Amino acid sequence: MTAIPPPFRADGRVAAITGGARGIGLAAGALLVTMGARVVLMDRDVAAAVDAAAGIGEGARGIGLDVTDEASVVAAFRSVMETEGRLDILVNNAGRAIRRASLDLDLADWDAVVAVNMTGAFLCARAAAAAMIAGGRGGSIVNTASIMGLSGGGLYPNISYQTTKGAIVNMTRALGVEWAGHGIRVNAVAPTWTRTGFIGELEQNPELMERIRAVTPLGRLAEPEEVAYAIAFLASPAAAMITGTTLAVDGGFLAQ
Ligand SMILES: NC(=O)c1ccc[n+]([C@@H]2O[C@H](COP(=O)([O-])OP(=O)(O)OC[C@H]3O[C@@H](n4cnc5c(N)ncnc54)[C@H](O)[C@@H]3O)[C@@H](O)[C@H]2O)c1
Repeated sequence: MTAIPPPFRADGRVAAITGGARGIGLAAGALLVTMGARVVLMDRDVAAAVDAAAGIGEGARGIGLDVTDEASVVAAFRSVMETEGRLDILVNNAGRAIRRASLDLDLADWDAVVAVNMTGAFLCARAAAAAMIAGGRGGSIVNTASIMGLSGGGLYPNISYQTTKGAIVNMTRALGVEWAGHGIRVNAVAPTWTRTGFIGELEQNPELMERIRAVTPLGRLAEPEEVAYAIAFLASPAAAMITGTTLAVDGGFLAQ
């Protein structure tokens, strides 16, 4: 097998992945371990995070984290620093959706989505950057946005998700600029519909699935591994000159 070129490797690096127990986060964790990193899968579902890490094997470990709870975020990143001694990569990926028409979306549901997708992402980025700055080696943060952060959607209403993922796109720009002087790059991926439990409910609707394929130039959904490849690239030294940007992994959806 051909060796991975050095800029695409992550030897000696430590990566924290929020929402790492399954789906895109888990795929990114498994890939980063293959690239040589040690990975901490962080998830509200701690049992699933521990199991997922065991499935990856040596180089991965699972811990509990609720991104909506500031004390939990502080404790989780402190635990990473205590056990791993450094933090180089954050895959800022935990997310949720409450897909409901705007006029029917009550404040509690709006707040619940904002708490995970926007405030939670900020709290984790802040905690990770503090650890990276203390380490003095810089680092790389990759946020998981969405095509819904760069478009108004159209197939079904999803206002809290679209708003918060749009916020991630601009948070990525602003933190990329703010932390560049510390050697911390901040980028995002914007995946299209990706085959994880996140869209399990949508997959029950064959007509909707057909419409999704029809609005996607490449004519299919993404696999979590395909999003992980983009995350790993942005996290790696191969992307050393890239910061503040959002990379669509969308089969051409946003190009239309
Ligand atoms: N699957 C898609 O179609 C798709 C498309 C675009 C963007 N995304 C984004 O990708 C990211 C990952 O989604 P996925 O598809 O892998 O979904 P998933 O449901 O498979 O995984 C999401 C993980 O986040 C965890 N999580 C939720 N709330 C949390 C909290 N408060 N604290 C800590 N962990 C929490 C869940 O327990 C779960 O393990 C999300 O940000 C999602 O918005 C997904």
